[in-house]
Amino acid sequence: MHPLEQLRDDALREIESAHDEQSLEAARVKYLGRSGTVSAWGEQMKTLAKEKKPVVGKLLNEVRNAVTAAIDSRTQQFRSQKETGALDKIDISLPGTPHELGALHPLTQMLERSIQIFRRMGFALADGPDIETEWHCFDALNTPADHPARNEQDTFYLPDGRLLRTHTSTVQIRTMEKTAPPIRIIAPGAAYRRDEIDATHLAQFTQMEGLYVDEGVSVADLKGTLEFFFRELFGNDAKFRFRPHFFPFTEPSYEVDIKTSALGTGDRWLEIAGCGMVDPNVLEAVNTKRGDRAFDPEKYTGFAFGFGLDRLAMIMSGTPDIRYFTQNDQRFLAQF
Ligand code: DAH
Repeated sequence: MHPLEQLRDDALREIESAHDEQSLEAARVKYLGRSGTVSAWGEQMKTLAKEKKPVVGKLLNEVRNAVTAAIDSRTQQFRSQKETGALDKIDISLPGTPHELGALHPLTQMLERSIQIFRRMGFALADGPDIETEWHCFDALNTPADHPARNEQDTFYLPDGRLLRTHTSTVQIRTMEKTAPPIRIIAPGAAYRRDEIDATHLAQFTQMEGLYVDEGVSVADLKGTLEFFFRELFGNDAKFRFRPHFFPFTEPSYEVDIKTSALGTGDRWLEIAGCGMVDPNVLEAVNTKRGDRAFDPEKYTGFAFGFGLDRLAMIMSGTPDIRYFTQNDQRFLAQF
C-alpha cells in the first residue's frame, strides 16, 4: 500500500468517527489545512523524480478529493441532525398561531361605496379644512349672524374666531371660490357639533356634501341624482319622499325620507338627507368674494345636498349605537 493510501484510510476513518463539528474541523485542519498532511505531500511532489510525478500526483489528487468529499458529507450530516433536533422540540400537533384578518370599518365601507356611486354620475371629490372661518360656514351660506346655528353652544370656537365646521357645506363655497361652473362635486368629511353624546350623536361625525352647478339644473336633476344614489345603496324597491323643509342656503329646500323593506324598519319613513336648489344669495356671496360674475344666478342654477355617512353606515350595518363606531372594540369591529 502506498503511504498516501494509508494516509487516506486514516483520514477517512477519523472523519467517520468524528462525533461533533469540532472534532471534524480538527480532522480537516490535520489533513487538508495549510500545513496538514495532504498539503505536505503536495510540497513533497516537487522533490520527486520526474517519472514518479504523474503517478503520485494522480494519487494525491484522488486522496485530496476523497478526504474533501468525506468532510463535506459529514458536515452535511451534522447540519441535518441539528435541524431534526430542533424540529423534535416542536410539537406539530399543537394548533398554529392564527393571523387575524383585518376588515374595513363600516363607516369606511359606506364612504367608499358612496364615492363609487357618485363617481359613476360624474361627481369629483372635493375637500376643505375642518377648521373654518365663520364666513365659509355661515355668512356665505346665507346664514345671518342672528341665526340659531351660530350660537356659541352649537360648535367649537377657537380664540381667533374660527370654528370647527358644523357641516361640510363649507366645501360648496371653497369649491366655487376657485372653480367656475360647471361644477359637480361631492365632499365627504368630518363635521362637529357641541351635541350631548348619546346613541345617535357624537361631537364629531361624518357628512357627505354634494354640489352641482350648471346652466339649466332643475329640481328634477336633484331628485333623479339622489334617488339613483339611494337606490344603488338600498335596492330598487326603495320609496322616496321629498318633504319641503328650510335650509338657509337652498330655496326650495327638502328633506329626503326613505322607506324600504331592506332596512327592517317596517313601514316607517326614515329621514336620510337634506337638499335643495342653491339659493341665489349663495351664488352672489361667491361672486362678491371672487370679484366677478362667474356664478351669475340669471345664468346658472344648481342643487346641493348633504347627509350623514355615520347614519347611513348605521342603517346598512344594523348598528344601534353610533358610539360603537369610535370605541375600537374588537368584538364590534370583527363583525364586518
Ligand atoms: N348642511 C346641512 C346639515 O348639516 C345638510 C344639507 C342640507 C346640506 C341641505 C346641503 C343642503 O347641501 O342643500 O344639516
